[in-house]
Amino acid sequence: MSLPTQQKALLVPLKGKFYLGSSNVNQPGPGEVLVRIEATALNPVDWKIPEAGYFVTEWPAILGTDSAGVVVAVGEGVSKFTAGDKIFHQGYFTNRLATFQEYTIIRAEIAAKIPSNLTFDQAASIPLGFTTAAVGLYAPSWAQGGFNLTPPWKPEGKNKYAGQPIVIFGGSSSVGTYAIQLAKLSGFSPIITTVSPHNSEFVKSLGATHTIDRSLSPSEIAAEAIKITSAPLKIVYDAISLGPTQQAAFEVLAPGGSLLLVLPSQIPKEKVTGDTKVITTFGSVHAPDNASFGVDLYNHITELFASGEIKPNVVEVLPGGLAGIPEGLERMKKDLVSGKKLVAHPTETA
Ligand SMILES: NC(=O)c1ccc[n+]([C@@H]2O[C@H](COP(=O)([O-])OP(=O)(O)OC[C@H]3O[C@@H](n4cnc5c(N)ncnc54)[C@H](OP(=O)(O)O)[C@@H]3O)[C@@H](O)[C@H]2O)c1
Repeated sequence: MSLPTQQKALLVPLKGKFYLGSSNVNQPGPGEVLVRIEATALNPVDWKIPEAGYFVTEWPAILGTDSAGVVVAVGEGVSKFTAGDKIFHQGYFTNRLATFQEYTIIRAEIAAKIPSNLTFDQAASIPLGFTTAAVGLYAPSWAQGGFNLTPPWKPEGKNKYAGQPIVIFGGSSSVGTYAIQLAKLSGFSPIITTVSPHNSEFVKSLGATHTIDRSLSPSEIAAEAIKITSAPLKIVYDAISLGPTQQAAFEVLAPGGSLLLVLPSQIPKEKVTGDTKVITTFGSVHAPDNASFGVDLYNHITELFASGEIKPNVVEVLPGGLAGIPEGLERMKKDLVSGKKLVAHPTETA
């Protein structure tokens, strides 16, 4: 099958509005594959980047960091995949590696086969959210790394942290749902999380043992969490990391504990004393410091979902292909998306 040289893409200028346009279909280099994207998911970073200008250096930019699709060409030296394989992977903040377009490029070693029990839409809900949860919990403790815990895909990792409590702020977010499920596989108990009450049963079905209403004040949330267990709360994952959740998360944290943030820290440096750690993670397998962790993760990710041990996000497919993405991002910005991942099909773009 001959491949097109041009494709539909969703572009955005810095500080501007998204518009439909076109981009080159790139050729895979050594170690890379070219993927026809069947489903791409939306993430908060996609509405933040055009406003803030971070990560991207090429404008107008093509954004999008979640892809599930079909391998259509393989570069030199790739033996992991052949044309026709269904794979999913995390994109990056360059037009060549972005996913709000019909085709994208990825290094084969950080892509994985979609298990047969998952649709393209479900697989697209995994890469950024799951990677951020996994990096935060298990990646080495570099400045933007993680807690360096032993992952549950290592033989000695499953249930390793049995009896130790964990608090996860934002349990119904994409990152939070994956953090809960990984914490369960790691054996953490209790698993305490904050959600809107309508998501309480949902997050308990994933492994949370206790939920706290996220609309309480930071001090009320902290007091509720501390009441749940007599064990010190030494591991806290704030999957939201807005000012109030950071405040509650730091109040909950026992001295000498570790707090993981997904946005820059607003906690005054002078308050972080002794062995206490506050890390802002970079949930990307493209970060050079996460390189070997990312390859290991993508060698195990298929089996984690194939076995049903980890479930993908609930998905909602947007109409209109790439044209449906800007409205989806607006809904996310207004905090109108609860407990699910928005997904678009680039090939359905008119
Ligand atoms: N550092 C990184 O590398 C990295 C990577 C990925 C994401 N992030 C950041 O992580 C955050 C979460 O991303 P996501 O994709 O997981 O978001 P998401 O799924 O779009 O978040 C929506 C969810 O957030 C929950 N939520 C909102 N405010 C909350 C609060 N104050 N307390 C508790 N829950 C709250 C809502 O819960 P309810 O509906 O139950 O109220 C909703 O289900 C974003 O800020 C994103 O930019 C950072």
